[in-house]
Amino acid sequence: MKKYLMTLFCIVFSSLVLVSCNENDGGKKDAAGRTAGEAASPKPDGRIVVGFSQVGAESDWRRANTISMRDTFAEANGYRLLMRDAQQKQTNQFAAIREFVQKKVDYIVLAPVTETGWDDVLKEAKDAGIPVIIIDRMVKTADPSLYVCWVGSDFRKEGGTAVTWMEKKFKGKEKLIIAHIQGNIGSSAQIGRTEGLQAGVDRNLGWKVVVRDTGNFTQVQGKEVMERILSEYNNIDVLYCENDNMAFGAMKAMDEANVPYGSRGGVTIISFDATRGGLEATLAGKISYNVECNPLHGPRVEKIIQQLKEGRLPNRIAYVDEMAFDATTITREEIDARSY
Ligand code: AHR
Repeated sequence: MKKYLMTLFCIVFSSLVLVSCNENDGGKKDAAGRTAGEAASPKPDGRIVVGFSQVGAESDWRRANTISMRDTFAEANGYRLLMRDAQQKQTNQFAAIREFVQKKVDYIVLAPVTETGWDDVLKEAKDAGIPVIIIDRMVKTADPSLYVCWVGSDFRKEGGTAVTWMEKKFKGKEKLIIAHIQGNIGSSAQIGRTEGLQAGVDRNLGWKVVVRDTGNFTQVQGKEVMERILSEYNNIDVLYCENDNMAFGAMKAMDEANVPYGSRGGVTIISFDATRGGLEATLAGKISYNVECNPLHGPRVEKIIQQLKEGRLPNRIAYVDEMAFDATTITREEIDARSY
């Protein structure tokens, strides 16, 4: 009996210690001034409410990202997702975040259109005690504690990967004429991929970017920009295109103008995202090199929410592992394995 009571005492005591450790972790601030916050109080229907401010539906990548979030935060999984499509406008994202604050959601997830301008609205969310998780593109805030963490791609590395491939492919070529179609100016995806190319231009004296314009990550604008480029230049060696949809638009413009492109001659196209459509174009030799950008953030965000619920602080910055595909080596199996 005495032995039994002792064991019972030990179990109760160690559970109390564990609980108080978790509570301490939740209240403690880290170097960035973050806390795991209060555990969200369950809503009457028992679900966790997630407010998600999405950039828009500008690309296949974005649509895959939305599906990943919707599938993960489905009612069947115990969530209620309030998703707002900002149609690529930051002001719409401000309105969405303010609506989430008013509705007292448990967590806010923000996929920001651009990096700057978030301080005021994120402070409102922080003051309301709602943890903010940033996905995909980054935000720059004066106060690092305005959001809990970020998960997404290393866009600068993606640009570097593309440039390393270009350096190998065009080794020994004295002059390389490059046309550059950019994504939304001021978004991390544009900034990183542009910086990657610029670093390549800076160290390869013969490389010249003769034209640089934004297609805002859409197919329609990718085509329009390429039409303008073709009306001015007939000597483009490389089209560095910051996503697959703009590359599809640019290819359409080249088809209509009878300009040859692809890994078998003509304009060499480099693209980003490696969506299923992008990889089909790579296998067909139309896109010569395609750098992956992974949109499946739903399960990653769910893991973060679980950590926060347990009073633990997730990693402040988490980069997703990504690969790249060369038209000369890509396989059908790689495309079939792709869910987006
Ligand atoms: O931020 C990720 C980028 O946004 C993707 O490359 C692009 O397709 C999307 O619209």
